[in-house]
Amino acid sequence: MESVVRRFGTPLYIYSARHIDQRLKLFHRAFGPIAHLVCYAVKANSTLAILDLLARRGAGFDVVSGGELERVLSVDRAAATRIVFSGVGKTAPEMDLALRSGILLFNVESEGELELLAERAAKLRTRARIALRVNPDVFAETHPYISTGMREHKFGIDIRRARAVYRKAGKYLEPSGVSVHIGSQIRSADPFGAAARRVARLIVELRKDGHAIRLMDVGGGLGVEYHPDRAFDAEEKVCQYAAALIPIVESLGSLRLLLEPGRFLVAQAGALLSRVLYVKKNGEKTFVIVDSAMNDLLRPALYQAYHEIVPVAPAQSSRKAVADVVGPVCETGDFFARDRTLPVLKPGDLVAILDTGAYGMSLASNYNSRPRPAEVLVEGKRVRLIRRRETIDEMLALERV
Ligand code: LLP
Repeated sequence: MESVVRRFGTPLYIYSARHIDQRLKLFHRAFGPIAHLVCYAVKANSTLAILDLLARRGAGFDVVSGGELERVLSVDRAAATRIVFSGVGKTAPEMDLALRSGILLFNVESEGELELLAERAAKLRTRARIALRVNPDVFAETHPYISTGMREHKFGIDIRRARAVYRKAGKYLEPSGVSVHIGSQIRSADPFGAAARRVARLIVELRKDGHAIRLMDVGGGLGVEYHPDRAFDAEEKVCQYAAALIPIVESLGSLRLLLEPGRFLVAQAGALLSRVLYVKKNGEKTFVIVDSAMNDLLRPALYQAYHEIVPVAPAQSSRKAVADVVGPVCETGDFFARDRTLPVLKPGDLVAILDTGAYGMSLASNYNSRPRPAEVLVEGKRVRLIRRRETIDEMLALERV
């Protein structure tokens, strides 16, 4: 690892291609008995090489902006027919791009969006395949910022109104599916089953109304375990998830299941490598100051998320101490760990912040005018730079005085 860092510097995101590959295979194996398409949620990690890796293995994609759509198309134009477009605020230019590319499905989140999409499709003389993203009013136990499936959230269309909205949609568009997404980092399969059952009831009604519903999109949200001391068996998790969904899908006859996992595929494939700059004491507390910060990895600051931190080289001594691991950004919220028992660290040591492949780089910013980190991909014995470190000149290039 030292040699990788000598070549590419820190902070550095490092990902394992094999891990992502294995996670995708777990999905395919678990959902093997039914027709399904894994539409990777691009927002989790939108780096082109990651998208390319998944596209080459036949994955589809869930995008939420024109930018994400362009990213996918830039690595594989032919992937368009495997793209679903989600998001509460699609603009006309984004719709036009998606319509021209011939994507698989628009997940429509409001009646206003439905009207605009009908208008754009008419203008471009094309039919848009749509699903309404319904809000099933299901409680999913997760962080409040990433729970989305309850009536008071901004997402989706109230499932009780869906039938009427489909009736209206059927006049101008092609209702082909129903979609739902109840939140992220959900550890139990139960809420997914509960939401899917409600969607299934709606599908039966919609078919009675004459809509040819062929797709059921259950969104993403399958969680991973970030704490090393809690058991986590990825295969068992996907199998439980599949067991909750497959019977529901099978009960509906001819139907293709769309899945939108993000975190589950990439979170544990990545780590953020950082160098210890200083170690200091303030009163009783020890602070380990590293060269990455909340702008590189926002999850701890934003969600008080736990990420395991390990020294990269075997520790010189077995001594441990309690410390906060913090970045150089001028905010108290700029921390990676608080009151964590860690091997004693000293300036120059290299640490890895684990399980940061999802919502790490994709949430990175230039806050405090810090250039965003570089990213490398490990493929077998090869380590390849997939995004070089941003320069200060690049950061300033868009501005004029
Ligand atoms: N589909 C839709 C419509 C979504 O909104 C999301 C995530 C996904 C799929 C993928 O969910 P996943 O399988 O990754 O849980 N930044 C937060 C997570 C935000 C998730 C937003 N939507 C975090 O770092 O925990």
